[in-house]
Amino acid sequence: MSLQSKHMLGLQHVSDEDIITILNTANAMKDIIKRKIKKVPTLRGRTVVTLFYENSTRTKTSFDLAGKYLSADTVGLSASSSSVQKGESLIDTARTVEAMGADVVVLRHPAAGSSKMLAENINCSVINAGDGVHEHPTQALLDMFTISEHKKDFKGLKVTIVGDILHSRVARSNIWGLTKLGAEVSVVGPATMLPPKMEKMGVKVYTNMEEALAGADVVNVLRIQLERQKQGLFPSLREYSRLYGINQERLALLKDDAIILHPGPMNRGVEIVSRVADSSQAVIEEQVTNGVAVRMALLYLLTGGEKVEDVN
Ligand code: CP
Repeated sequence: MSLQSKHMLGLQHVSDEDIITILNTANAMKDIIKRKIKKVPTLRGRTVVTLFYENSTRTKTSFDLAGKYLSADTVGLSASSSSVQKGESLIDTARTVEAMGADVVVLRHPAAGSSKMLAENINCSVINAGDGVHEHPTQALLDMFTISEHKKDFKGLKVTIVGDILHSRVARSNIWGLTKLGAEVSVVGPATMLPPKMEKMGVKVYTNMEEALAGADVVNVLRIQLERQKQGLFPSLREYSRLYGINQERLALLKDDAIILHPGPMNRGVEIVSRVADSSQAVIEEQVTNGVAVRMALLYLLTGGEKVEDVN
């Protein structure tokens, strides 16, 4: 086993060494994606089941493709079209797919802690593809991999995460991962969207965008979860956009070579204007490609693949 655990449940308890192993392995996997024939036999005979209780475009599709590029058999199961609708529990559903021969279950679920619970109740590897507001480790790993392609070192790198930190599993996983590798992480958003005692996670906390963005190397723009707007966490989308949207004026506050990330899906004109999202500093499409590489790396490592040394 190359990683310290056969599961990937979150970055809070993953060592910096394991994170580096995953990023280096993703680097090697990206070479496969760039080939005309994107197929290697590495996971032939292995079965990956994606079990999604929430909607997804990027995460689900990239796990499917990651498995296929490594020659695993991949099966997708969504709660809306499965026996979950007849009242079957999460554990019973997962045990059912395990009994059919699954080696890896990739779970997205609205409940925080659901992946951990599954890992405690089934024998195959579990990968957390987003559990409520808790963690989304593969998103953070692909964000970190994308950053590593543009920046020499994580140590001292100024990363600012903008938006609804309170409800963001992406923010939480990024904070755990980035701080372990030595980045200086800041979060900024309306006070209603900042969890209390955030500083304990080792980040600087701002409500003022200009202060938070000054001199940043990387800005990670979170999706405004429109469903939360009903809770009145900010007065209106127009107000949010004015106070916390990333626009060209705010781009000028960053370092000249700063990059802009967004996990998607984007609300153009709300948290980010199109001229920034489509600018040369935005690496949003690279993140999507890298998501496949990172998920290939995880499937490989969690099923017993050997460490891949840095190929650079
Ligand atoms: N970033 C992300 O998790 O996107 P999806 O919801 O489309 O998977």
